[in-house]
Amino acid sequence: MKIKLNCNFENLSENYLFSEIGKRVRAYSEKHPEKKIVRLGIGDVTLPLPAPCVSAFENAAKEMGSKDTFRGYPPEYGYDFLRTRISEHYASFGVDIPADDIFVSDGAKSDCGNIVDILGDNTVYMPDPVYPVYMDSNIMSGREVRLLEANAQNGFLPMPGEECGRGVYYLCSPNNPTGAAYSEKQLKEWVDFALKSGSLIIYDAAYEAFVSDGSPRSVYAVDGAKECAVEICSFSKTAGFTGTRCGYTVVPAELDADGVKLKKLWSRRQATKFNGVSYPVQRAAEAAYSEEGMKACLDNIGYYMENAKMIASLLDEKGIKYTGGKNSPYIWLECPNGTSSWEFFDYLLEKVQVVGTPGAGFGKCGEGYFRLTSFGSHEDTAEAVERLRGLL
Ligand code: MLT
Repeated sequence: MKIKLNCNFENLSENYLFSEIGKRVRAYSEKHPEKKIVRLGIGDVTLPLPAPCVSAFENAAKEMGSKDTFRGYPPEYGYDFLRTRISEHYASFGVDIPADDIFVSDGAKSDCGNIVDILGDNTVYMPDPVYPVYMDSNIMSGREVRLLEANAQNGFLPMPGEECGRGVYYLCSPNNPTGAAYSEKQLKEWVDFALKSGSLIIYDAAYEAFVSDGSPRSVYAVDGAKECAVEICSFSKTAGFTGTRCGYTVVPAELDADGVKLKKLWSRRQATKFNGVSYPVQRAAEAAYSEEGMKACLDNIGYYMENAKMIASLLDEKGIKYTGGKNSPYIWLECPNGTSSWEFFDYLLEKVQVVGTPGAGFGKCGEGYFRLTSFGSHEDTAEAVERLRGLL
């Protein structure tokens, strides 16, 4: 064949981070089939869907099986019942988002990757370490990316500084991978900076339901954010939808760049390239944000946070520095004795068959760090903690 391919792909690492980890773990497991591996690597949930979601799912599936209630293509931006429910969810923590500014999708990962479609040739800024989807999707589209160091000195929460010019800024709070969460004051600084410099913030709120100390759960908790920020969120971590797929993006009607509404462009993009989320999934998502559903979601989050406590107390006991585990399911720890991230990954896999995520996989500043997730079962987490206690 002689066609030209997208040469930007040459600038990506060989594999997506979590595919690389999966590959290494599979190779180990094939070599040592007798060893039980405990997986605290990818942030994938393990508890089943909350009961209210399951019954909504079942009822909707039945509706799809009956002539009178069958539905074809869903509305391209999501059913009104779900957009309204999401708007009510925002209202429950004091944020006013009209249903019409909410675009339902099959998850935050897709939206994080797809949002670049409506943006021109801007300088893109993101923290280092960072969720690899922001980085990889910008590399794929040939964008210039500048990194803002997130380190122990700034509490893994970079703030606007001299190096920051007009551009597109990715922020994630509570943060993946470090678990750190911006305070309202810090977010206000970002919003003020964006408004002043004419920049756009792409705010990833996928872990908002884990906030436990009053930190903002949405960028729109800050005045002025509707004029400078898009927010992406998901049911994956809140309601265990990693295998069910549903998320949403808020593109406020107020947002414009040189008189062009971002909402108009995102509506156009979605209408062309996306055919909506299935009806049963949207009904299940609606149920997650019902009163009963939210209670069940919070129970599950409480369960995961007990795992976080187990991991954190081991690290305290061993004198290993870490962040996260408080407003976040992730614990970001310093690899002991100056070990590199991948060395530590191999060491844990080899010696105690515990899988985590090497910090270096999230960027240069992640070198020497390691991420553990608390999304495992109590049993697996307790087992991992015991194995690590013996080893570290
Ligand atoms: C992670 O482990 O960082 C997440 O599971 C990735 C994701 O949500 O796509």
